[in-house]
Amino acid sequence: MKAAYIQQVGAPQEIRFGNLPEPGIGPNDVLVKVAAVAVDPVDTYIRSGRLPMKLPTPFIIGRDMTGRVERIGAAITRFAIGDRVWCNNQGFDGRQGTFAERLAIDEKFLYPLPPNADERQVVAFVHSALTAQIGLDRAQLVAGESLFVQGGSGNVGSAVLQFAKARGAKTFATVGSAEGAVWCQSLGADGVANYKTDDVASRATEIAPQGFNVFWDTSGHIDFDQAIRLVAPGGRIVVMAGMAARPPFPIGPFYVKNCSLLGFAVTYATADGYDRAAAEINRLVESGNLRVRIDRVLPLASAAEAHRLLDEGAHLNGKLVLTP
Ligand SMILES: NC(=O)c1ccc[n+]([C@@H]2O[C@H](COP(=O)([O-])OP(=O)(O)OC[C@H]3O[C@@H](n4cnc5c(N)ncnc54)[C@H](OP(=O)(O)O)[C@@H]3O)[C@@H](O)[C@H]2O)c1
Repeated sequence: MKAAYIQQVGAPQEIRFGNLPEPGIGPNDVLVKVAAVAVDPVDTYIRSGRLPMKLPTPFIIGRDMTGRVERIGAAITRFAIGDRVWCNNQGFDGRQGTFAERLAIDEKFLYPLPPNADERQVVAFVHSALTAQIGLDRAQLVAGESLFVQGGSGNVGSAVLQFAKARGAKTFATVGSAEGAVWCQSLGADGVANYKTDDVASRATEIAPQGFNVFWDTSGHIDFDQAIRLVAPGGRIVVMAGMAARPPFPIGPFYVKNCSLLGFAVTYATADGYDRAAAEINRLVESGNLRVRIDRVLPLASAAEAHRLLDEGAHLNGKLVLTP
């Protein structure tokens, strides 16, 4: 089968596209014919070695997938041949990734794809959506609270906005363009400000005069002075981006407001956390209200090119989706 894989960590050029043996399945595995995969920023951290981990050789890159069940192991109970499915969290912890024509995967990592679901849209959504749902659980956002999201028009930001709204929270987003502002408003943001041109603090204060209960930075460019000023007493600040960021931190204003700082990496979520978030994602997909942006769809053979675009910080309007 064709697959995109690396023999060693390094630059995007390390990604090869060629034939690898089709994987065998154990009793708890399902063989899936892959319909679409998406590129997540974390894929580039693993491929480059910036997120060091033990990898099989060759290592098939990629984390997410939508596809169709082709074969099932003897102990499989939840899936049948022909079912459409999706997954996240592959290419990690010794598991092979998803950028291949076929994938053998333990059924515990698989979720059913609702009948009306578009395979490309769902694969573009799942990583950001799991991150948003599980992160909102960690931040304990509940109905009646308010949330500020920095980077609202990005992949994670868009999912945070949708799920925060669904929880009954008031939302405010920062964006870097007029188009991003329109997008966030279409997702239901109660307020939006352009971080390049607007006075963000005064716009945000109009939406939450008492301060925000949750401040979520998706950009990796958090200004803690501003974040602490904008949160309510007891506010929770979520940081989950900016691997190389080393910003100053004002301890005084932070503790006198009784704030919490939550470092968040979705990878540490429990199996229960994943399952709950996956159920919410499927509910949103089934409702027909899923909103996600796909920058472009590329052939799987362009995996190296897709990684290069992310590495170079190319301005993308949504996810890069690849199809075998
Ligand atoms: N910790 C985890 O579990 C986890 C999980 C998923 C993703 N992530 C990380 O989350 C980050 C976001 O991922 P993504 O896919 O959502 O990326 P993305 O779509 O590129 O979104 C990034 C957002 O940040 C905004 N931004 C960029 N520079 C900014 C600045 N100086 N000030 C304010 N906002 C700025 C961008 O706004 P404009 O484009 O409008 O300028 C954009 O909306 C990545 O670093 C990724 O690695 C972490």
